[in-house]
Amino acid sequence: MPSRVHILSHPLVQHKMMLLRDQRTEPKKFRELMREIAVLVTCEALTDLATEEATVVTPLGQASGYQLKERVGFVPILRAGLGMVDGALSIMPNAEVWHIGLFRDEQTLKPVEYYSRLPVSPTVDVCLVLDPMLATGGSAVVAVDILKRWGASRIKFAGIIASTEGVQRLSMAHPDVPIYLAAVDDRLNEAGFIVPGLGDAGDRQFGTG
Ligand code: PRP
Repeated sequence: MPSRVHILSHPLVQHKMMLLRDQRTEPKKFRELMREIAVLVTCEALTDLATEEATVVTPLGQASGYQLKERVGFVPILRAGLGMVDGALSIMPNAEVWHIGLFRDEQTLKPVEYYSRLPVSPTVDVCLVLDPMLATGGSAVVAVDILKRWGASRIKFAGIIASTEGVQRLSMAHPDVPIYLAAVDDRLNEAGFIVPGLGDAGDRQFGTG
């Protein structure tokens, strides 16, 4: 694995991944699990945010510590990335959320852009792309392309499950983008699905399978 790839080994993540993968897990539970795993992955992805010294007055005196210095934008890739937004916002409620719409053409497996809601110029210091699936890696590569063209300087990717191929493709195309994941599976099938994976994260969240 490239050095900028972080696969969470936390037992809570491993346990929740088993429930998420299970075909018996219905959409309500699937959405809850996505949200909970997103909290843990997002937390890890933001461990190197810059801070600055600050003081605060407590009821008993003055305390010194650190406060966040960087502004963060979460960039979910529609549709499946939506399932990670609540979890990410629960630990960083003041982050901005900018949506990018991409779907994968079923024949070519190439991403097609259908929506992009970004302000004229970057308003944040760090962009965290949210997409639970990194299959061929095509969607993530295009999302980062869009953010770089927009002028984003510091971009990270937070996902839930990936194929080895997807990780390699994103790392090769954007070696400056660290990748945070809960699991990596060995292969893709002919239809471009991660195997054994968890199925289609968009369909399983929204009951559209
Ligand atoms: C899925 C998934 C990723 C993409 C991953 O989206 O949510 O965005 O495919 O595949 P890739 O790495 O090969 O590009 P999909 O196109 O099914 O759209 P959806 O999220 O709207 O269901």
